[in-house]
Amino acid sequence: MTTVNRQVLTLDEFTIQQLRNFPKATGQLSNLLRDIGLAAKRINVEVNKAGLVDILGSYGSVNVQGEEVKKLDVFANNQMIGVLRHGISCAGVGSEEMDDIVVFDDEVSNQSKYVVLYDPLDGSSNIDVNVSIGTIFSVFRRVSEVGKPCTMADFIQKGIYQVAAGYIIYGSSTMLVYATRRGVNGFTLDPSIGEFCLSHPSMKCPEFGQIYSVNHGNYFQYEEGVRKYITACQQKNASNGGPYTQRYIGSMVSDVHRNLIKGGIFMYPGTTGKPEGKLRLMYECNPFAFILEVAGGRATDGTQRILEIQPGSLHERSPFFAGSSSMMDELEDCMA
Ligand code: AHG
Repeated sequence: MTTVNRQVLTLDEFTIQQLRNFPKATGQLSNLLRDIGLAAKRINVEVNKAGLVDILGSYGSVNVQGEEVKKLDVFANNQMIGVLRHGISCAGVGSEEMDDIVVFDDEVSNQSKYVVLYDPLDGSSNIDVNVSIGTIFSVFRRVSEVGKPCTMADFIQKGIYQVAAGYIIYGSSTMLVYATRRGVNGFTLDPSIGEFCLSHPSMKCPEFGQIYSVNHGNYFQYEEGVRKYITACQQKNASNGGPYTQRYIGSMVSDVHRNLIKGGIFMYPGTTGKPEGKLRLMYECNPFAFILEVAGGRATDGTQRILEIQPGSLHERSPFFAGSSSMMDELEDCMA
């Protein structure tokens, strides 16, 4: 007879346990995380059958970023909106796949404290080739009056005001990792019970790392400081223990997840053609900057802390450099 390991907490048990530390907490954030966990399980099922059903391939339209929309992006986006709209903790959402915010505007949602920004399926150009992809989310407390519909001002907030941020990685196993100011915790989906179980408590990004992740194809379009740092990563020197290993999956969730666990630096710099780079501040940079900072790492746009950037619009892009603090120091020395 197999015994159930009751030492392992599920996502729900864990978030409810956290509530015990805050007697005045309303439980809305726990509900929100449970809702996102539910969407993640549904998306996971579809991602896993991507090669089997006619869901693979392009939807035939381009999203607001001018990128081709894959069918699974649409499915994932619908799942995220669905669970958050029907939950009781979210007043509205912004998605990388949609031009504008969606204000839920019903009696229950208007009472909700939070809004959520998300990238439903990041790295989706990798779906067709069976590479790990992910969902990224960012939670803000509303600045507009509770009781009324949420507004754009609730979404256009600096990353430092995030209450929580996280991601789901659909990889060799499926994991949900989320951060609040209290810490970063990772949960692995146990398919036998259909629950996310706490597998990586109190995650910390190692101070030193040996992995750098960057698209080398753009090398000659990067600014001099970035090229100088890449060269330093490739050289052996006493202080850094190099040369470092280069790993670049082209799926940010996978690259940053690995670096968070093993130590490393992830870079998506601006290029001569695209000075702002490719990654979206609100859907990709802010949530990962928050997670990495809580885990002890750092994240900048090359000149300032990502979390301090005042966004001007929902879909703006930013250069992004993030990872182990000592590697970020080395990068900054080269870019100075
Ligand atoms: P997409 O969702 O269109 O596949 O983009 C993925 C993002 C990010 O996850 C990844 O790190 C980066 O784009 C890769 O871009 P390059 O191919 O330009 O390196």
